[in-house]
Parts: sequence; C-alpha cells; structure tokens
Amino acid sequence: NPAPLVLGIETSCDETGVGIVRGRQLLANEVASSMAEHIRFGGVIPEIAARAHVEAFTPTLRRALDTAGVRLEDVDAIAVTAGPGLAGALMVGLSAAKGLALATGKPLYGINHLVAHVAVGLLEDPQNGASRPHSDNDADSRGASNGVRDLPPNTGALLVSGGHTEILRVGSLSEDVELLGSTIDDAAGEAYDKTARLLSLGYPGGPKIDAAAKEGDPTAFRFPRGLTMPKFEGTAEEPGKHRHNWSFSGLKTAVGRAVEQFEKAGQPVPTADIAASFQEAVVDVLTSKAVRACQEHGITSLLLGGGVAANSRLRGLLAERCQQAGISLTVPPIPLCTDNGAMVAALGAELVAAGKPASSYAIPADSSLPV
Ligand code: KG4
Ligand code: ZN
Repeated sequence: NPAPLVLGIETSCDETGVGIVRGRQLLANEVASSMAEHIRFGGVIPEIAARAHVEAFTPTLRRALDTAGVRLEDVDAIAVTAGPGLAGALMVGLSAAKGLALATGKPLYGINHLVAHVAVGLLEDPQNGASRPHSDNDADSRGASNGVRDLPPNTGALLVSGGHTEILRVGSLSEDVELLGSTIDDAAGEAYDKTARLLSLGYPGGPKIDAAAKEGDPTAFRFPRGLTMPKFEGTAEEPGKHRHNWSFSGLKTAVGRAVEQFEKAGQPVPTADIAASFQEAVVDVLTSKAVRACQEHGITSLLLGGGVAANSRLRGLLAERCQQAGISLTVPPIPLCTDNGAMVAALGAELVAAGKPASSYAIPADSSLPV
C-alpha cells in the first residue's frame, strides 16, 4: 500500500498553515501569517489571530491543494493541531478539519503541536531537492522495507519559539515522547520580544535583537543564566528539580535594571552591548542545558525547531557544543522550523502508518495539551 496522502492544518498561534505530505514526501507547505496585525499591539492578540484564521484558512487550503496537485477527495487522512496553543485559534483549525473530515469521510487525527515540530525531521528533501535534513550516516539502516523511515533512535528536540521552550526525547513519534525540560516562566522568544521592547527595538523582537547584537559586545554585561545554581540543577546522579529547565524572567528583569541605570544617569543606553549580552545569556543557557540533557539521556541526534531557530548565535553555539559532545545536529529550513502545516501532516502520516486509531469528531481544543 502506498504511503498515505495526509493534509495537515495548523492554527495554534498566528500562522494559518496547511501542508500536504505523501508519507515522508513534502508536497505543499502554505502559510499565511497575521503577524502584521499584531505588531502595533506588541504581541499576538488571540481574538485577532482567531479571526485571521477564519479568513485565511480556505485560500491557504486552496493554494496547498493546487501546489501539491491533489484533490481533497484524494487525501487519506486529515491531521490538525489540537494543542497546545491559543484556544480560540486552535478551535478554528479544528472546526475546519472536522468539517472536511465529515464531508470527505476521511479519518481525523488530532495532533500535538510540540510533537509535530519534531516530525519535520522525518521529511525527505525538505529543502525541495536538497539533501535530507539528517546529517547522520545510518540512512540505510533506517529505511524500512515499507518505505517508512524513522528518526534516529532517541532523538532529542530543542523547541524554541515565542510560545514554547522545551527539550524533548523522542523514542517514537507515535508513542514515546518525553518532556525532559521546559521554561518555568517566559519562552525564549518571549524573552527576546520583551527585551526588545525594553530596548525600544520594536516587535517581534527576535530578529531586531539578533541584528543589534551583531554590533555589540556579548561580554559587556554579565546577565543571569536562570536555574543554573547547584540547588536547582543538582548532579547527574541526583538531578535537582530544575536540572533541565530554563527561566528567562530574571534575565528580562536584569536587562530592565541595566537600561534604567543608564537612563537615570542621563547616559545613552548601550543598546547593542545590552542586546549582545542578553542574547549570549539566552543562547548560553539554552545550549548548555539542552546538550547536557541529551548527554544524560543517551541522545546523539538533536533537532532544532521553533521561530528562534532563525537566531544566528543560537545556531552557531549549538552547532559548536553539539560537535564537542558528539551529537549530530539537524536544523531544518526555517519555513519548517516556524509553525506550519507540513509538520502536522508529517506527524499525521506517521500515526496513520503506525496504525494509530483516528480521533473522535468530538476532540476538543486543548490549550495546554501535554506531550
Ligand atoms: O515559531 P514562531 O514563528 O511563532 C511562535 O511563537 O510559535 O516564533 C516566533 C518567535 C518570536 O518570539 C520571535 O521574536 C522569535 O521567534 N524569533 C527570533 C528570531 N526570529 C524570530 N528570536 C531570536 N532570533 C531571531 N533571529
Ligand atoms: Zn510552534
């Protein structure tokens, strides 16, 4: 039996994503973003995001079907993000997917957004003809007779975006995903956005700080690395509660205090130095904790995902530290790192191939769906 043709729908935040895959083959990945409507508010407004999904969904679906050259009735299954994410935004995608599933009689698969980010690692030729994302050399041993490939055994995933910051261990995408650590307060992208606001750099803050940091000295300020004290981290033998967790709210406060000191003294704020030092603190603690979590869980392949994957310093330092630790790092192309429908379709195809039962038509949106 040929690989399943799966439609994937993603509406958990500000991106309306519709992707189509045939098994591990990416056929279409169309995305519409409502970010332009959120900029003047300095953050994603849930109500606006939900309304934008209602408007963008059908045209985005049309484009995806046209790009893939398939008809809705050819699709074998419909996969849709059920959570985590903004409740109202999730409901738009879920309702659309339920309508399509009912109309076509195809099975519906509710998908976990975080696990879907990792499923990008399954896609062949994600660069549209370029090499597969895996840098490992055991592709042959992973190519099963039914044409189904797997992620390297015990894959790690570092997911960093405006809404989430997690390190996962994935034994199998269909049944063995473990959350090793996460942020206990702000997401990494959220820290970038809040810090950019303190520095009057605008929104979204990630790219602005990334650019400003290039002109600054990352050692000018020593900003805190959250949850790295021994009482939080413990040891490998006796791990502390927050060994693999992050905290970015203290960092944001420290940046605020530094800015305030310059302003009070009537001195110009050294924006580039603060941006570079802030970025160094974020990237240092993200990469050191992620690599150590991998080492302590026997993970030798790490996948990076989420919008912050676009950050140049994060890519650079993570590559360096992974290499030192003997971990092979995969950074998918950015359109597959940011929220998209292809990742949802890829995980849907995986669940179909693994013989997992479809979801009920009553499946709810779950804004805090665990992995
Ligand atoms: O995955 P994404 O598009 O949407 C979600 O948040 O789910 O990620 C957006 C986040 C924003 O917080 C943005 O500031 C951050 O990713 N970001 C970056 C960069 N580009 C985007 N952060 C740091 N450096 C960048 N170059
Ligand atoms: Zn995401």
